[in-house]
Amino acid sequence: MKPSSRSIVEPFRAMQVVAESGRLTKAGKDIVMMCIGQPGAPAPTPAREAATKAIAAGKIGYTDAAGIGPLRERISQYYQEGYGVSVNKDCVFVTSGASVGFSLAFLGAFDVGDRVVIPNPGYPAYRNILKSLSLEPVEIETNAESDWVISPEMLLAEHQKAPVDGILIANPNNPNGTMMRPEDVERLVKVCKEHSITLISDEIYHGLTYDKREVTALEFDDDLFIINSFSKYFCMTGWRIGWMIVPEHMVETINRLQQNNFICASEISQIAALAAFDGTDEMELVKQGYLSNRKYVIDELKAIGISEIQPIDGAFYAYFNVSGWLNLSGCNDSMQLAHRILHEAGVALTPGIDFDSKRGGDWMRLSFACEESQLIEGFSRLKNWLGDIS
Ligand SMILES: Cc1ncc(COP(=O)(O)O)c(C=O)c1O
Repeated sequence: MKPSSRSIVEPFRAMQVVAESGRLTKAGKDIVMMCIGQPGAPAPTPAREAATKAIAAGKIGYTDAAGIGPLRERISQYYQEGYGVSVNKDCVFVTSGASVGFSLAFLGAFDVGDRVVIPNPGYPAYRNILKSLSLEPVEIETNAESDWVISPEMLLAEHQKAPVDGILIANPNNPNGTMMRPEDVERLVKVCKEHSITLISDEIYHGLTYDKREVTALEFDDDLFIINSFSKYFCMTGWRIGWMIVPEHMVETINRLQQNNFICASEISQIAALAAFDGTDEMELVKQGYLSNRKYVIDELKAIGISEIQPIDGAFYAYFNVSGWLNLSGCNDSMQLAHRILHEAGVALTPGIDFDSKRGGDWMRLSFACEESQLIEGFSRLKNWLGDIS
């Protein structure tokens, strides 16, 4: 037997760094983890309490494919309260994380060979899920002139070269945390509508935004997909729970796809997610921590010679140019550099190659979703290491 050609996708190198860090830790080395996009804080107390109670009662089973009613209603209420947008609860689907939302949206909206625009740099799973579903990822390189986001003009230029069928944007984006301005989201939605391009908006880092106003694409139209999750703001990565909002005319399609592919999201996690909405005070404190970490990281990166950091409008990442460190260390690219920093300094960072196969060799991602004490230790090690190799 041989693997199908569509299953041949790139590995997620961040996970390789995590695995290597695990091996080093097991061997007795102390590693400062600044590589994974995972909050250091636990899920909100009400979520953990509700899950414990549900486990004690013991009756955990399948739910409706779209999720339990009270959670779908609560998510719909979240849009009313947070953005003033009315969302029909029938359009809310609870999923096993945002990751399942991508597969459902791609399967529901596209046919084999369809061209789907994604940002570069961007979350690598977009490219890999599209490929594994026999869809064509069309990467648009963002740059300093476009504020490191895809502008409506960039989408139109690509569409004129060869028609595109869809676009997936992340707002804020991973690996850099950049956000589109509200007026640009509105213009992008308009361009998509005019040219019959299906828009999928990944809003997983909503709630974790610092400077720009956070808008959902739903404010401008409802004929699009929203993907979101409890993984980031609510610190529930391992619970594998998220949601999507789908256009009314796609409800039946997505329902059938969810029934057949995934049955439903875990009931225990759905119960916890519903209660998580009562834990926002705790989550706001966690966010305050990210805000001060962001300032610390920017100041420290500048102090150790980093001059180019993409705008951190949201999320909990710094994406910065490491060309200077490559020259100093003699490393060829960020992958080699990340490997040396991990082994010699005991600091785990993520190479940019994951997010941008062409330019990412010069870039590195750092996650500041950890405790400040970790960051202080990490930067002290980086400073010493740079001193040693200079
Ligand atoms: C932009 C983006 N979308 C989606 C995901 C996947 O999220 P989930 O844990 O909800 O599947 C991630 C995870 O890091 C991400 O960064």
